[in-house]
Amino acid sequence: MTADPFGLDAVTVDSARARRGVKWSGVEGRLAAWVADMDFPIAPAIRDRLVEVVGNDVGYARWPGIGRSFLPAMFAERMADRFGWTPELDHLVELADVMQGVQLALHHLSEPGDGVIVHMPIYHPFLNSIASMERRLVEVPAQRTDAGWAFDYDELDHRLGAEPACVLLLCHPHNPTGHVFARPELERLAEIVERHDLVVISDEIHAELVHADHGHVPFAALSDEMASRTITVTSSSKAFNLAGLRWAILHAGVARFREALGALPNHYFGAPNVLAVEATGAAWRDGDGWQRAVAARLDANRRLLAQLLEEHLPGVDYVPPDATYLAWLDLRPLGWDGDVHDELRARGVELSPGAQFGTQGEGFARLNFATGPTVLEAVVQAMATPPTSR
Ligand SMILES: Cc1ncc(COP(=O)(O)O)c(C=O)c1O
Repeated sequence: MTADPFGLDAVTVDSARARRGVKWSGVEGRLAAWVADMDFPIAPAIRDRLVEVVGNDVGYARWPGIGRSFLPAMFAERMADRFGWTPELDHLVELADVMQGVQLALHHLSEPGDGVIVHMPIYHPFLNSIASMERRLVEVPAQRTDAGWAFDYDELDHRLGAEPACVLLLCHPHNPTGHVFARPELERLAEIVERHDLVVISDEIHAELVHADHGHVPFAALSDEMASRTITVTSSSKAFNLAGLRWAILHAGVARFREALGALPNHYFGAPNVLAVEATGAAWRDGDGWQRAVAARLDANRRLLAQLLEEHLPGVDYVPPDATYLAWLDLRPLGWDGDVHDELRARGVELSPGAQFGTQGEGFARLNFATGPTVLEAVVQAMATPPTSR
């Protein structure tokens, strides 16, 4: 066995540039560290299964139910093994993507004008959904403390008395800060949820990317009361880098939401994609070796990034994330004149502009470090060079 059996460390700028997805092909030659796709080669178990299926038959699949694949049963087992959470099989619905689940839940559990609580800054499609669905954003701002990112729940609790909300939309773990909500913090949130009679939409897409020094507690696993108030939405797509295949799963813990879904016609959601289902099945059956190697590479990269920043861009504030491969960087200390995104582009790099994640993100950028160490080094070095194009 080589030291790098999955070719993770071997990713170079050239090999990454040859990738066809939007991350590298949409950036006009800049170094890409933006959208949340990893640059690593696909897990061999997934590639082999996809090749086998494509070489055999991509017609209608033989599955346990019409429009329902074998994945819900595997998902329930995986959640029990990994997180001690036992989803109810008949509360699971397969979807094409996680944001579809978030919108569906918002649509059925709130009305235009209703307040939706969000930890800010936040994964920007949450903001777009809330705005386009005419819900009211209730912000819980992140505070930078010596220990990392924190949120003031006394203030939230107090505010909800005067400014009611009906949904807590949780990004758990949190994108972009990489904050993991630990059990005591979740229990504090659960108290608030119960006192203010909220429902929770918990997007747990990054749950399997929690670093080893932290643990993931599904919100629905906190108590029976929280289970009955929570819609969980997640996917294999982040942990196994399958975003283009489109498959997600929703657990409808809220009875009135299940009733609303049950009243929809059979074909409302379409059926899952055969290749996405097969890829996820292979990932969950045989992909854990690849995933462990990826976790080790990401852990090394979150530390390497700290060293690189100290060496090339001292002053940039960076809290190594507890989960994910996304680094939330405060670039304001660099004192750049222009808009951060323009400044980065002028240095030949593409990061996600912090302002996308809400006004609190102005002067910040989100850097994706799911790549080989040489690429990460090239990205940080480029950020530290004088601008060459405007
Ligand atoms: C928190 C979060 N939710 C949802 C998504 C997107 O999932 P999907 O493409 O399945 O909608 C992402 C993608 O990065 C994400 O970070």
